[in-house]
Amino acid sequence: MSTPHYLSSLARRSSDPAISWLMKLTLDQPHLISLAAGFTDNETLPAAEVGALVGELLRDDATALQYGSTAGDPELRKLTLDRVCAQDGIAPGAALAADDVVVTNGSQQLLYLLSEVLCDAGDIVLVEDPTYFVYLGICEALGIDATPVRMEPDGIALDDLQRTLQRLKDSGALGRLKFVYLVTYFQNPTGWTTSFEKKREALAILRHYEAAAGHPLFVLEDAGYRDLRFAGPDTPSLKSLDAANERVAYSNTYTKPFATGIKVGYGVLPRPLVRHVLRSKGNHDFGSANFNQRLIALALRSGVYDRHLPKMQAGYRRRKERMGGALTKYFPPAAKWQETSGGLYFWPELPASCNTSHDGAIFRAALDAGVLYVPGDLCFAPSPLRPKPKNCMRLSFGGTPSAQIEEGIQRLGAVLRSQGM
Ligand SMILES: Cc1ncc(COP(=O)(O)O)c(C=O)c1O
Repeated sequence: MSTPHYLSSLARRSSDPAISWLMKLTLDQPHLISLAAGFTDNETLPAAEVGALVGELLRDDATALQYGSTAGDPELRKLTLDRVCAQDGIAPGAALAADDVVVTNGSQQLLYLLSEVLCDAGDIVLVEDPTYFVYLGICEALGIDATPVRMEPDGIALDDLQRTLQRLKDSGALGRLKFVYLVTYFQNPTGWTTSFEKKREALAILRHYEAAAGHPLFVLEDAGYRDLRFAGPDTPSLKSLDAANERVAYSNTYTKPFATGIKVGYGVLPRPLVRHVLRSKGNHDFGSANFNQRLIALALRSGVYDRHLPKMQAGYRRRKERMGGALTKYFPPAAKWQETSGGLYFWPELPASCNTSHDGAIFRAALDAGVLYVPGDLCFAPSPLRPKPKNCMRLSFGGTPSAQIEEGIQRLGAVLRSQGM
């Protein structure tokens, strides 16, 4: 169907977000074992805790049911800043204050707002290759040239970052580069975490190119899976390296670790960006759901949130082990993947001859077998410099009822073997 000419250029650029059709497939076909959508685990959602908090929240105060401010609930902004600072071992101070925190409708809204505020159509954002595919949809809609930089198990490849920046400089395009988008913890889709050394180096490399760009080169650090760590130590954020609070926009969320349905996310933003993000958010919704924010603030203040984290982490560790065991048992030996110690995903890589994309035989056979995965090619930005790899798949152990994880992997393994692997 052709796109009507009367639509805006943004609407004409936008295709159906893959996240929407993947979620619809999952919800419309309840018999399907979905290893695709990044749903969280119904078995560990804090239903009883939230029920009690709601009663407490409304007992003698109805203001949670009232509109709030565009920037977000003041207590939540303060508790959020304290939390980020405690995680990073830094003290809130003159450079980093609750005023730098903006509460958004999930962290997804922050990704959109920052892209909208910093980029015009034709501007460039560097993204990891592969990256969070829903972010690629934002780039497509806003006309942003998402330029891929190779991803490695300890984060973005610094040599490729350097090469890409130099190429942009040499071609006169560096002035169009606005920021680098990095998913630094248990990345979606690979499960990989960026090392602290790489964070430091990446920032230094970007600083080096700022004079040639003619403006600050920001980093959007998406730390959405940071609290979903079930083994190993935490890594300090890129934000912790931004002592003057001028280059790193830190994005995180209370959805994945606590309750996705509550959809409260946030950014800790370089001060010069706060006002502009708020203007844009004011136009979008003039404030996220106040009720949900007050609920999260109460969960944080009362300790409910912190008591929930280990339960949630233990749940995901068990699911990860179940999926890892099933992969070993049922996937053909030619498939390779890495263990992860957090997040929601495995990222198996198949031989280059395999085509896992949504219009390929493997995806169709998997649907026929009643199992859904995210085709890996969705996670690669288009680039004239390389074809999109089509031999990976993202498998989520987050939302599938745990009893179905093994069955789903078994069916998928049988599909791969039936396709000659
Ligand atoms: C890497 C990444 N960033 C951001 C989001 C958005 O999450 P939310 O809007 O629920 O905070 C997601 C959701 O899956 C994600 O995987």
